[in-house]
Amino acid sequence: MQTLKLGFVGAGFIAKFHAQAIAQIREIEIVGVVSQKGGDEFVKLVKELGIGDCKIYGSIADMANHVDAIAIYTPNFTKVEIIEEIVAAMKAGAQLKGLICDKPLARNMAEARKIINLVEEVNVPTAYFENQIFMKAIRSQMQQLAPQQETMGPLMLTRSAEEHGGPHMPWFWDPTQQGGGVLSDMGCHSIAVGWYALTPIGKPLDFLQPVSISCDCALLKWGQPHWRHVLKQKFGVDYSKTPAEDFATGMITFKNPESGQLVKAQFTDSWMFEKQGLRLFMDGMGPGYAFEVNTLSSSLQVFIGDAAAEAVADAETALEKATASRGLLAVQPNEADLYGYTDENKDAAQNFLAGRDGFLSWQYGLEITKLVMAAYMADEKGKTIDLTDPATLQELETYIPLIQQGRGGEILY
Ligand SMILES: NC(=O)c1ccc[n+]([C@@H]2O[C@H](COP(=O)([O-])OP(=O)(O)OC[C@H]3O[C@@H](n4cnc5c(N)ncnc54)[C@H](O)[C@@H]3O)[C@@H](O)[C@H]2O)c1
Repeated sequence: MQTLKLGFVGAGFIAKFHAQAIAQIREIEIVGVVSQKGGDEFVKLVKELGIGDCKIYGSIADMANHVDAIAIYTPNFTKVEIIEEIVAAMKAGAQLKGLICDKPLARNMAEARKIINLVEEVNVPTAYFENQIFMKAIRSQMQQLAPQQETMGPLMLTRSAEEHGGPHMPWFWDPTQQGGGVLSDMGCHSIAVGWYALTPIGKPLDFLQPVSISCDCALLKWGQPHWRHVLKQKFGVDYSKTPAEDFATGMITFKNPESGQLVKAQFTDSWMFEKQGLRLFMDGMGPGYAFEVNTLSSSLQVFIGDAAAEAVADAETALEKATASRGLLAVQPNEADLYGYTDENKDAAQNFLAGRDGFLSWQYGLEITKLVMAAYMADEKGKTIDLTDPATLQELETYIPLIQQGRGGEILY
């Protein structure tokens, strides 16, 4: 069986999660890594998992000559530069079967266009990693409810949420580096999975046409003096000067071009969620049928009493972004699979080996960037944005949200 020999750029949180996912499939070997930090630890993990003979490379140009494909798992503000380096290596002769970029593709439309133009120059297949679209729970409900869609008609409403208590690294909190706050970081997930789940089964990803979007961004917790202080102590970011939103909710209206029916996808994302850890919640309403996914419901729970709490080594091994280590706790034994990472890796490998884009190409990632930017614009202007208006679409091409510019204080306080 042919495998895809993959090189990673970045060896942090998501790179390690993807290694855990790749250990569950047969299509990928991790054979290289380029990273500012954490390369040694990552090589050790790959060895322990038995998923490839992974070597540390000093440059992307060097690694590109020894791998089949490259996956980009670095902070958002580094992505354009890294893609420029990969494209330069390809122009210099490196033969790559594909490029993977984890969400978000870019911080704004100007960056997204630049990225698309770069990869078009070398005509390389791409995969945009939006794991939630690959969640087995999402795919299974589609399969189970296909007969209901067929007889009763498609879904009319989806609601998607991703919420936790806040990110793990300083750059996520800095809106100029990350691209904004929770809307940029996690709204991209909820918007994508909502649109996907709403799409009638068998229709292409962009079948439902975005018609309008509304959004409300707020700084509910981390802008308060006590929590600003905590943030400054822990991550060195100053939310009195450059705040970002820790809560965002909005609604996208889509039109079914065949029936003319209008359907809606609501999204809610927060970094001020005070429960066990990360929760992904999705539901959908069709005429006479529905589905619901909640990743905090697990068949496994553990209880840790006060007397035993000191013994807990690492609560995050039980659940991503866990915020407690005692009491009744949900444990998800296989988060990499639960969140869709295994199946998105398998999809990318199979498609790249066949010479094609992954199920979600970078062009799709650009469409998600557009919707995220339109959500920021709706919040800033305090009105619903018409996504069918050519002038608005033109404005979005160069739009940089105030929050991303580091001017969030003007609208969040
Ligand atoms: N799909 C998801 O659920 C999910 C979850 C977390 C992160 N992500 C995305 O993955 C990306 C990385 O996030 P993370 O949480 O792993 O971040 P991280 O800060 O934990 O890790 C980033 C890694 O990149 C390395 N790095 C930084 N700049 C570099 C450069 N210029 N060249 C090479 N290496 C460099 C760092 O040393 C580190 O190893 C982000 O775009 C983020 O949005 C996706």
